[in-house]
Amino acid sequence: MKKYISTLVVALICHSAIYAQTASLPAEEQLYRPNFHFSPKKGWMNDPNGLYYKDGTYHLFFQYYPDGNKWGPMHWGHATSKDLIKWDEQPIALYPDELGYIFSGSAVVDVNNSSGFGDSKNNAVIAAFTYHNMDKEKAKQIDVETQGIAYSLDNSKTWTKYSENPVLKNPGIRDFRDPKVFRDHKRQQWIMILAAQDRVHIYQSKDLKDWKFQSEFGKDLGGHGGVWECPDLFPLKVEGTHEEKWVMIVNINPGGPNKGSAGQYFVGDFDGKTFTIDQHFSQQIKKAKAAWLDWGKDNYASVSFDNVPNEKRVIIGWMSNWDYAQEVPTQAWRSSMTVAREVSLKKTNDGYILRNIPVSQLKKYQGKSTRKTIKVKAENQLIEKSQIDLSKAVLDLDLKKMTAGKYTFALKNALGEELTFGIDNATKELFVDRSKSGKTDFGNQFATAVTKAPLDKLYSNAKMKLVIDKTSIEIFFNDGEKVLTEIFFPNEHFSELALSTDTKGSTLKIKGHQLNIK
Ligand code: FRU
Repeated sequence: MKKYISTLVVALICHSAIYAQTASLPAEEQLYRPNFHFSPKKGWMNDPNGLYYKDGTYHLFFQYYPDGNKWGPMHWGHATSKDLIKWDEQPIALYPDELGYIFSGSAVVDVNNSSGFGDSKNNAVIAAFTYHNMDKEKAKQIDVETQGIAYSLDNSKTWTKYSENPVLKNPGIRDFRDPKVFRDHKRQQWIMILAAQDRVHIYQSKDLKDWKFQSEFGKDLGGHGGVWECPDLFPLKVEGTHEEKWVMIVNINPGGPNKGSAGQYFVGDFDGKTFTIDQHFSQQIKKAKAAWLDWGKDNYASVSFDNVPNEKRVIIGWMSNWDYAQEVPTQAWRSSMTVAREVSLKKTNDGYILRNIPVSQLKKYQGKSTRKTIKVKAENQLIEKSQIDLSKAVLDLDLKKMTAGKYTFALKNALGEELTFGIDNATKELFVDRSKSGKTDFGNQFATAVTKAPLDKLYSNAKMKLVIDKTSIEIFFNDGEKVLTEIFFPNEHFSELALSTDTKGSTLKIKGHQLNIK
């Protein structure tokens, strides 16, 4: 929490200087404004909040400080989309008030009007968020964080904060935040899960106003290298079966698999009061320490949308890391979101895997495409140049007959900068190395180590889907069984993809798709 006080002071001092500069930053826009990942026009952004779908529109709110490019007094910014890919920024939805800053939270569509804020024809949308009180923080009080609600009767154009806020008082826990509310259809009740320091708490309500404590989870389970934040809980059918399991996402900062911020998950059952971890899954994470949603350094605070049609479970994350988010080399705005992803639960002999892949709506933007098959050679071999603009592309790589060597892909530009990533069958790892990717010497921990994700065996065949924007790559290994999301800041866009290896005999099939989004 210390970071909040110090960054607030810096943010306030820097504020006017930053905005004097932004008018003269067309180069920054050209170089670093993502082509299709959501970023605010100006100001600081962190976690996605209040994700929901209603009447043909997806809503994305976000932790937002409009008056500076570092973390500051938190608002909820707002953006909307018809397809989860192309986002339009909307006016700010929630402003801080005398109870505190508006920290992370969620939104639900109150279809039964259990809150009484709407009616059966016009369903209210209820946002649940954390009030973070800076006066109490400064006075070193414990009860800094409480939970509040607000409602909208016009599809999020305007919001009214509930007059009886807070709806959930602080029980004497310093870090007590990020409520995710959902409808438990089976038991006809509302459930709230929130982060309580090193575990989650689960609450129940009939009307979204009166919340009763039910249970806690996670004290000694999974990753505990930092404070628990932004949890989520939802049911998912196990792929190819009728079996239903519950998945809990818990974000953690620091303590990620490659340092800093990251998201982990648990698989189990929920009886309306208590989440119980699945026995096999428990063994699985005892061995691996934790199950990670994404092994890259830049996917934090991922949580899911409420009310998405066809029982799809869609998540989106903040594409940055608290280790350096406030220092990345953009001035007018800071940060973007990941591409929206659909999650699914796969059961294998080794346990459960929460797969995540880009939502199918991304395909609709795929334009010109190229296809080729090449024999993989030892030397640096150019596999994509000029046919497709690699600052907005989806590439499907299909490697066959691989042996026990290292397969290194490199996104490059004419300045000799490169981002390398690939499969190392010798050390059994996926990797991303951004040490030569352009600007790297800001902040700390940005490029000091190669990001790695362990593989359970030597792969002779493997697939990777790459979603590439000006400053990010999202690598979906074998249909999202392992994912690596990382950002980078080259001094010129990457325009070539090359492959090199220290082993022989394999082939690569590559399908490239231009994304037509602007
Ligand atoms: C996670 C987080 C949340 C908190 C918010 C404040 O990145 O620390 O726990 O609600 O950011 O902006």
